[in-house]
Amino acid sequence: MLKVSLKGCDSFVKDAQYQEYVNKALAAYDVLDSESGAGNDFLGWKTLPDGTPESLIQQFEAVRDGWKKKGVDLVIVIGIGGSYLGARCAVEALGHQFLPTKNAPRVVFAGNNLSEEYLAEMMDLAEVSNVACIVISKSGTTTEPAVAFRIVKEHIEKRYGKAEASDRIVAITDAVKGALKTLATQEGYRSFVVPNNVGGRFSVLSPVGLLPICVAGFDIRQMLRGAAAAKQQVSVRNADNPAIQYAAMRNLQYFELGKKVEVLVTYNPRLMFLGEWWKQLFGESEGKDGKGIYPASANFTTDLHSIGQFIQDGDRCMFETVVNVEKSRRSVVIGSDEQNLDQLNYLAGQHVEHCNAMAALGTKLAHIDGGVPQIEICVEQVDEFCIGEIFYFFEAACGISAYLLGVNPFNQPGVEAYKKNMFALLRKPGYEAQTEDILKRLE
Ligand code: PA5
Repeated sequence: MLKVSLKGCDSFVKDAQYQEYVNKALAAYDVLDSESGAGNDFLGWKTLPDGTPESLIQQFEAVRDGWKKKGVDLVIVIGIGGSYLGARCAVEALGHQFLPTKNAPRVVFAGNNLSEEYLAEMMDLAEVSNVACIVISKSGTTTEPAVAFRIVKEHIEKRYGKAEASDRIVAITDAVKGALKTLATQEGYRSFVVPNNVGGRFSVLSPVGLLPICVAGFDIRQMLRGAAAAKQQVSVRNADNPAIQYAAMRNLQYFELGKKVEVLVTYNPRLMFLGEWWKQLFGESEGKDGKGIYPASANFTTDLHSIGQFIQDGDRCMFETVVNVEKSRRSVVIGSDEQNLDQLNYLAGQHVEHCNAMAALGTKLAHIDGGVPQIEICVEQVDEFCIGEIFYFFEAACGISAYLLGVNPFNQPGVEAYKKNMFALLRKPGYEAQTEDILKRLE
């Protein structure tokens, strides 16, 4: 069961202060629970853990098994933002960090940047692989995935022919609108729907995340079970609800202690993309109307040797949220060495994870001494169940936290600004009137 500990904040926060923020979080919980707040037409994510039909899961498995039969060994998942980060987070967390996943294709991600070198090198891999593709865009009009998909589609069609291409490409998009929907219908691709009432960054437990995670060889039923367990845990209206605890404490840090930055810390490199997914979830949900905690992430102990200095000793603008994993799924014991030239015999017989845990405890004390409060979120191990728990926990906590902060968690008005400029510079039809003005401003 996922747990939140606020002990690492004790020396910074008075009980009464925390109680005040718990009360505010309870009020925000009511807004989310009664579906009466801003953005309440985007609450479809709340029902995904226990509302995903078995028949849909079987359709995902049919795609996976069909591609397996064809010998597909590379699946390119195209999407950006909420249409990619959840799947990438799960695939990186659950897969072997060095070897391919048994009986499953390699899954790579594209359409999440506009780097020509990235795309060219990914196509080098495609050339020597047996390829299929999942293209994901809720709006169906996002430039980055559209550019990548045009290139991948051309490759697949040239190589396998148009008819076979329609079996090797699956689209996940809106039920009725958008260029990707039109394209998928005309080309006869199998399609799955991003529910209308589920926003991108809340979509990992919809087909957007589930299909790529299933195709990558992981147990999505177990992931949904984990999410359902977290849903139960965060659906109680009291101060023991971990989502209320987390939402209350992070807002207290922001409003009362002036902490403008939250660093999501993990001690396991396989969770690096959890940081990326979480940054989008909280950054896009809360960073608006001139408000919001800036979400940053770090992977320790690696980053203790880089930004650790800043966290310990720099501007006191931050607090940490550490995702602690209780059990390691692998065992590596440090051996004894007769000569002991490296002077490590004091660690002989110890698990490496024990050293990691001691590093985490030592860092916790040091950072608290340095003025960095610490929230802890504990999960049992990195498996499908716990990843599902983490996804749902953070989604619910984000909804509560954003309402407490006083913003609409479910819109993202700010992401359009760069696009307008880029379209004008690329002379997209309809944007040419702004091109000259923008070019002048760039001189
Ligand atoms: O959370 C969001 O809504 C965004 O990050 C989107 O997921 C992202 O912009 C991709 O949009 P789309 O799926 O429409 O291509």
